[in-house]
Amino acid sequence: MSSQVLVTGGVGYIGTHTLVALQEVGYDVIVVDNLCNSSAVALQRVETISGKPVCFYRGDILDRALLNRVFAENQIFAVIHFAGLKAVSESLRKPIEYYQNNIIGSLVLLDAMRASGVKRFVFSSSATVYGSEAPVPYVETLQTGNTTNPYGTSKWMVEQVLQDTAAADSEFAIALLRYFNPVGAHPSGLIGEDPQGIPNNLLPYIAQVAVGKREELSVFGDDYPTPDGTCLRDYVHVVDLAQGHVRALEWLVGRTGAEAFNLGAGRGISVLEIVRAFEHATGVSVPFRVVSRREGDLPAFWADTFKAKQELGWVANLGLEEMMVDTWRWQNANPQGYQAVDTGK
Ligand code: NAD
Ligand code: UD1
Repeated sequence: MSSQVLVTGGVGYIGTHTLVALQEVGYDVIVVDNLCNSSAVALQRVETISGKPVCFYRGDILDRALLNRVFAENQIFAVIHFAGLKAVSESLRKPIEYYQNNIIGSLVLLDAMRASGVKRFVFSSSATVYGSEAPVPYVETLQTGNTTNPYGTSKWMVEQVLQDTAAADSEFAIALLRYFNPVGAHPSGLIGEDPQGIPNNLLPYIAQVAVGKREELSVFGDDYPTPDGTCLRDYVHVVDLAQGHVRALEWLVGRTGAEAFNLGAGRGISVLEIVRAFEHATGVSVPFRVVSRREGDLPAFWADTFKAKQELGWVANLGLEEMMVDTWRWQNANPQGYQAVDTGK
């Protein structure tokens, strides 16, 4: 069997960590990425960590001719599909771009896969598909939907497309990986999350406050029905998440159909607990101010992790301490992200 895996969006945050995990166990990786939210420097860093080359096609998943070429030039065993746009608030302002990239992009990719007979697929889904009404912990058997923004709806819709595809063509084997809140960075400090502009997500914002790029953290609401009044989320280390993709690839072999798996640590941590954990792990203080709630935030959610453990043999091993230390190591070593070394190529 071929050992080549096509990774769309492989230059991004979760993609780069997954490339390293794949190379560590002997897969050859082929990346298609248009660099709309990433820097090619990240791929050089992946090669430094693994000591192995990455085959890179710079281009768009909407470009069917490019995808045809990628499938023709390689013996691809499976596809891991990260490419897409991911900012919730931006998706409310730019729904067409989000549906175009996330839905049409996935359709073009799937059609190219079908045409070339590659039928193992791992999809980057999100806990957001459980919508705004689901009881916690989120379990895979819950009905999905009730999404509240175009980003979430695009993930939900692609899940439906993939379920229907697997039902119609029994050669397809598909894993829908529903990530909870990915944080942290590779322990080398060479790759990590590199948001453009003001970070939307909690950990990148805290890291930028700690490194002196931003004055203070705004804590969005302390009047939620939770133990300390701030929201609870299920933070999962990106290195664990990357391993989840390796397990999913192994799981796909010899299977058919589509199955969803939660990838989370299985417990809710509050915003204030994260601030304290960061300060404790790094010794750096994080000034914060409580402000009003952010529209669209849910009070609390975390994963039921039984299915991923039972079927994929995957659990999140790394704890809060590693999440904080690794975030800080990356941020400290790369205060401007990849930008300082990016020559624009
Ligand atoms: P990211 O933005 O760092 O990586 C996405 C990569 O895809 C980028 O390198 C970008 O340049 C590329 N890309 C985007 N559109 C493309 C296109 N049309 N053609 C080719 N390349 C394209 O994001 P990430 O955090 O690594 O997330 C990866 C996937 O996981 C996304 O699909 C995201 O929606 C999903 N996800 C992320 C999170 C999270 O918190 N990071 C949570 C749940 C799900
Ligand atoms: C967000 C997305 C979600 C996506 C997830 C990926 C929204 C509404 N949801 O989820 O679709 O799958 O990222 O990780 O954007 N917080 C602050 N101050 C900040 C930033 C965040 O207090 O400056 C709080 C938030 O209110 C939330 C928690 O920190 O309670 C985590 O926020 P964030 O990292 O943005 O993740 P989610 O909101 O869970």
